[in-house]
Amino acid sequence: CRASEGKPMKQRLLVVANRLPVSAVRRGEDSWSLDISAGGLVSALLGVRDVDAKWIGWAGVNVPDEVGQRALTKALAEKRCIPVFLDEEIVHQYYNGYCNNILWPLFHYLGLPQEDRLATTRSFQSQFDAYKRANQMFADVVNQHYEEGDVVWCHDYHLMFLPKCLKDFNSRMKVGWFLHTPFPSSEIHRTLPSRSELLKSVLAADLVGERLLPLWETDLSIELQPSCSLMVIHSFHTYDYARHFVSACTRILGLEGTPEGVEDQGKLTRVAAFPIGIDSDRFKRALELPAVKVHINELTQRFAGRKVMLGVDRLDMIKGIPQKILAFEKFLEENSEWRDKVVLLQIAVPTRTDVPEYQKLTSQVHEIVGRINGRFGTLTAVPIHHLDRSLDFHALCALYAVTDVALVTSLRDGMNLVSYEFVACQGAKKGVLILSEFAGAAQSLGAGALLVNPWNVTEVANSIAYALEMPADEREKRHRHNYAHVTTHTAQDWAETFVSELNDTVVEAQLRTRQ
Ligand code: G6P
Repeated sequence: CRASEGKPMKQRLLVVANRLPVSAVRRGEDSWSLDISAGGLVSALLGVRDVDAKWIGWAGVNVPDEVGQRALTKALAEKRCIPVFLDEEIVHQYYNGYCNNILWPLFHYLGLPQEDRLATTRSFQSQFDAYKRANQMFADVVNQHYEEGDVVWCHDYHLMFLPKCLKDFNSRMKVGWFLHTPFPSSEIHRTLPSRSELLKSVLAADLVGERLLPLWETDLSIELQPSCSLMVIHSFHTYDYARHFVSACTRILGLEGTPEGVEDQGKLTRVAAFPIGIDSDRFKRALELPAVKVHINELTQRFAGRKVMLGVDRLDMIKGIPQKILAFEKFLEENSEWRDKVVLLQIAVPTRTDVPEYQKLTSQVHEIVGRINGRFGTLTAVPIHHLDRSLDFHALCALYAVTDVALVTSLRDGMNLVSYEFVACQGAKKGVLILSEFAGAAQSLGAGALLVNPWNVTEVANSIAYALEMPADEREKRHRHNYAHVTTHTAQDWAETFVSELNDTVVEAQLRTRQ
């Protein structure tokens, strides 16, 4: 890090994501209450050594007046957060429309919307225009706060245009981008009307760095020739997603794929896989808290004599909740001896409730749960407890700890950290994880979990039966494998690796230029 008066300075990092890790509630004209979410990315970055991180993103609320914006900006500054203010129209077109009605389903292999799904948010082109405008608004805020030497880390499918906007403003900026969802096969990506523009923007392909900054730990300060460029690094949860991205760039843009990434007339964009993890110690510590222990006891008594199966998902099409519940129904149908000995607890956290597809899903899930409980319930017990809400962290840890079988049946999922959280809380119980082969986590926890094709209801039903009767030694062996992975591949490692890799990429770019 750069030295200042003999004292090393921390590397400044600007993390840019669609949503800030806070929930903001307005209490008065100029007063706000903020609740910081201690989710994956936040705890990952808190654990990164020698990095001074700030967050830039949307606070998730519409603040049309200047008084409110000033007060919120001030309140957020104390939490090291910087807001991007998006008005209702842009949220509708950019967030509900292009991000969540187009890119999200497409990247999860659910295809592009039919006209009727587009009708509610106007045309595809106007959504894409709003997407670009919104990305520019994020860039404007980054540019206001950027200082030379900062690393800018852009996150997710909401901000694929951001690397280009940032490079247009300052070609020397060190920009990294991380995708938290799958990147689909190029055959899927090529159906997107704005396929090329989006790829080019994410590659910042028309930008060429002319001069690099002095590096923090070296005295290299090199003038780059216009034909040389600063590399932008793009990363994904799994090798497959990275490969799909490279092949989309080669097939759609005609660029050259190299073992390191994508090359365009001598400019290399580095592409790599960096699987995320969780802060497993936080979960382990929580299990030792008296309040959590009380909770565990209550749940154990409440479900005494029954095996507990658990699903924890955002109420999203990609999570395969209807398929999971139908598989559970099939299991009950075919294994009558289990009917009063097992319970499925499904926590379905409402999400993106303004998007019509999500509203339809909620009704669909309620209908299926109601039918199955009507069919197999008794006067004193029902087989499925379905909750349309989130749980606080301690309640969630307790629930993970008392679970015998966790069911993660995503139809597609970038990684799925619920599977990691479950494993981290199972030190004592050593329960079974049933995991979709279409979740990124299948690549890391596959050897310990029972992998299933979530579309195959019979296969999932059979896996439930197998999991419930699995011999203790097999359970332990599988758990040991997963536990070792979850506790050694943490969120902190992930973030540290990314930041240091981005720095190395810049060094490499300079050395290449020298040769
Ligand atoms: C996924 C995305 C995240 C997003 C989260 C919650 O995990 O990859 O970027 O923040 O869903 O979705 P929301 O639309 O509520 O921010």
